[in-house]
Amino acid sequence: MRKRLVIGNWKMHGCLVENEKLLDSIVAGLDGLPANQFAVCVPYPYLPSVQNTLKNTNVSWGAQNVSQYEKGAYTGEVSVSMLNDFGCTYVIVGHSERRALYGEDNDIVAEKYMAAQRAGLIPILCVGETLEQRDEEITEQIIQEQLMAVINKAGVGSLSKAVIAYEPVWAIGTGKTATPEQAQEVHVFIRSSVGMQGNNIAKELTILYGGSVKANNASELFAMPDIDGGLIGGASLAASDFVAICNALSN
Ligand code: 13P
Repeated sequence: MRKRLVIGNWKMHGCLVENEKLLDSIVAGLDGLPANQFAVCVPYPYLPSVQNTLKNTNVSWGAQNVSQYEKGAYTGEVSVSMLNDFGCTYVIVGHSERRALYGEDNDIVAEKYMAAQRAGLIPILCVGETLEQRDEEITEQIIQEQLMAVINKAGVGSLSKAVIAYEPVWAIGTGKTATPEQAQEVHVFIRSSVGMQGNNIAKELTILYGGSVKANNASELFAMPDIDGGLIGGASLAASDFVAICNALSN
């Protein structure tokens, strides 16, 4: 059975007081649901307090980025061992905002992915095309390149300890969700591309959809056979929405 997951990506939102309220409501709302299916990826400074709030609950936590380097003169960066100090399970790598705004190319993303795995963290590898690329009908080529950059360096077997998130850039923060059919089509492409390298790895690979997942569209997305859950931006900042999306996974 493939693992199913809903993970919140808070991006650069939150403050100590609001986070506490948000997490208390999420924990209460998810009480009784299975363990190992839910997580939030939060800004670095909040990791200690998030760890404190979420330890002994069924909600895991992680970060949104990490350095590819272990340590050294890298002002402003955060290493995998620092994330381990605060009990992180996950780290997002290659989010399209990092690729577009911070110049992270496929090689850097692959290095971050490998650094995360060396430290025992589960990388959530984001892939996805821009609107221009979709219009040019090169979606599959772009995703193939993003995937192969990692597989070529880390090996297909590494995906047994990773999660992939398909996040079409045109659907992120725009309110324009990919239709379940559009998302399913790309998820099948991802699974079959991985399958060419390792069939069993592909079958067990958790592939999340991200891009304007909301309480009112999560169920139809999660009902698709190759969509194993979601990576949630805006709707992870409102407890009732996030809890509803988590429930959509379990139903
Ligand atoms: P939204 O859910 O706000 O569209 O963001 C998706 C995303 O980027 C999650 O990583």
